[in-house]
Amino acid sequence: MDRESAEPSVERFSGERAREWVEYHHETAAPSTYVCEFVWDHTADAVGPFCTDVDGNVLLDFAAHVASAPLGYNNPTVTDRLDALDLPDPSKIAGQDFYAAGGPLGEHDLPTPADLMARLTDRSSQYDMGTVFLSNSGAEAVENAIKVCYDHTGGTYGVTFEGAFHGRTLGALSLNRSRAVYRRDFPEIGGIEAVPFCQDRTCTAETCSCGFLTGERSRLRRMLDPGRGSMGPNDVAYVVLEPVQGEGGYRFPSDAFMSEIADVCETYDVPLVVDEIQTGIGRTGEFWAADHYAIEPDVIASAKALRVGATIGRDEVFPDETSRLSSTWGAGDVVAAAQGAITIDVIDEQDLTANAVERGRQFQELLTDADPEPVVDIRGTGLLLAAEFDTKERRDDVLAAARQRGLLLLGCGHKTLRVLPPLDVREREIRIGVDLLTDAIADVA
Ligand SMILES: Cc1ncc(COP(=O)(O)O)c(C=O)c1O
Repeated sequence: MDRESAEPSVERFSGERAREWVEYHHETAAPSTYVCEFVWDHTADAVGPFCTDVDGNVLLDFAAHVASAPLGYNNPTVTDRLDALDLPDPSKIAGQDFYAAGGPLGEHDLPTPADLMARLTDRSSQYDMGTVFLSNSGAEAVENAIKVCYDHTGGTYGVTFEGAFHGRTLGALSLNRSRAVYRRDFPEIGGIEAVPFCQDRTCTAETCSCGFLTGERSRLRRMLDPGRGSMGPNDVAYVVLEPVQGEGGYRFPSDAFMSEIADVCETYDVPLVVDEIQTGIGRTGEFWAADHYAIEPDVIASAKALRVGATIGRDEVFPDETSRLSSTWGAGDVVAAAQGAITIDVIDEQDLTANAVERGRQFQELLTDADPEPVVDIRGTGLLLAAEFDTKERRDDVLAAARQRGLLLLGCGHKTLRVLPPLDVREREIRIGVDLLTDAIADVA
């Protein structure tokens, strides 16, 4: 497949073979999320955002495996470097508790978990972060982030935001405030309260519509008021925040909202945990989405694009005592850790954060010019993009119609559609994507 000339082409989505694979999968799989019947054929042609499914349909993938494939399919630098690694067996070692030679100190090219951690602290030095704990997933990265904060502060309270999503393990799900299904009837960590999340990315204290900034003091400031608040600030272990809400609907907060959170956390010395699992590793045009705002996170949770989970923080936040944190397979897959490190290298070498800014702007301009009637808002930062529809039904129909035309997208929130092209997406590919999306909207109309 030649990336310069590849075009999406769909006979029927999902095709007969896809349905057979899906049926086979469900013979043993527990019901989970299952967005659509996209069965990728990894033995068939794929390059950049283009891939082939088991029925031979060529698809333009602007879902990027929910932001977990930031370099698309078969990125030549990643595949060349992985091919050259002469992969070892065992390729899974026990977490970061075992040491692997390689990287700058070794004789071969394999970036180790230690190299990945060094790259992450380097990209987080603006927050004075020098320590990392690697795990397997986003939920574990969040879970360990709040664990270290409980340990560091001795606090028993936590603050989350309405609409939040932080994962599905028992600890992480206690922080969720998006869909009821994530928490209903599960036991939860106590002492967690939610405050409103910004609804208007341009708001000020005077125009705030979510209720967070209204009144003399913000909701967070009132909640932590040492005399009258519902939580004594010394008992608060963390405030945990998605810098852009993902599952909650790609909600981009205002500067005023973010600055107030930073100010309250600083005033009361409450650790700020930023969940960058969907937003991080260059997607927004900065390495972390937090970098766009005047906030100072104490801990960052990352995963997805990294291929492993990572809890990154200032040194003093982490416990000194051994065995407080550990995980047998946490980043133990040396291939996954190497892939995370190589992904960061490619983003740097090819200046893909700049590409994300440029191509994201192109997408927004083209879609705004097309002005499709049922789209009530087009928003995004870099290649974290969203189109909000007038109704949930319309959004769902457009997602299905886009798939029939060969464009893979995802939903989020109530009636929003998210667009996540790979970070190296090209001008031609964005044009094709916007054309397919506007055609899909017309199909539905
Ligand atoms: C913001 C955010 N936090 C946490 C998670 C959980 O990550 P994982 O599914 O790897 O556990 C996700 C996953 O979608 C996410 O988007």
